[in-house]
Amino acid sequence: NQPTNQPTNQPTNQPTNQPRNRSCLPVCVPSFCFPSRRQVDFGNINEANLGQLRKLNLSIFPVLYNDKFYQNIVHTPAAVTQYAYWNGFVVGAICCRLEPPSGPGPKKLYIMTLGVLAAYRRRGIASKLLKKMLENVGSDAQFSDVEEVYLHVQTNNDTAIDFYTRFGFEKKELLKGYYKR
Ligand code: ACO
Repeated sequence: NQPTNQPTNQPTNQPTNQPRNRSCLPVCVPSFCFPSRRQVDFGNINEANLGQLRKLNLSIFPVLYNDKFYQNIVHTPAAVTQYAYWNGFVVGAICCRLEPPSGPGPKKLYIMTLGVLAAYRRRGIASKLLKKMLENVGSDAQFSDVEEVYLHVQTNNDTAIDFYTRFGFEKKELLKGYYKR
């Protein structure tokens, strides 16, 4: 028990049973360090969460959709109208409608909107939404008589044209003034 001037908390390699007065901080590793943990989930669009679709569309599309558009979506089979969630947050959606044949012939499925928030693009989210919808249509008996999936896109929307071309969609006719209606 000799008094000493040596500091008592000198680093030492000797094992000791003495509790050390060291503080620690919790270290959180952001999820972007783990790409495999980033996940796209799907979810139904319904009356209760319809507000999210309105907000999403407002920030993605230059077009203002009316109440009838949103009410129809709630009554459309969930197989063709879905949200995309990225780590739990809604970041995109696909909304389609089933169209009866205009005469004799098969039914068609019309993609009304497919969009992803700008900050979440080029991560494969729209591809996943489209693939999921097409799989659902291929496997669900209520769509067995659907033979065509189609959509309209503005001629200057190169991104969307590239996107759909990659999925095998083909350009058909040019409808002048379509978006002025
Ligand atoms: N430039 C060139 N090719 C592109 C681009 C781009 N900006 N974005 C997507 N693509 C092509 C690429 O081939 C891409 O594959 P890669 O990333 O491996 O090169 C492929 O499409 C798949 O891209 P995703 O990551 O799955 O698409 P994303 O989630 O970014 O969504 C979308 C694409 C929906 C077109 C998005 O840009 C968007 O929300 N745009 C605004 C809304 C819109 O224009 N919607 C479509 C028209 S409306 C309608 O669909 C009826």
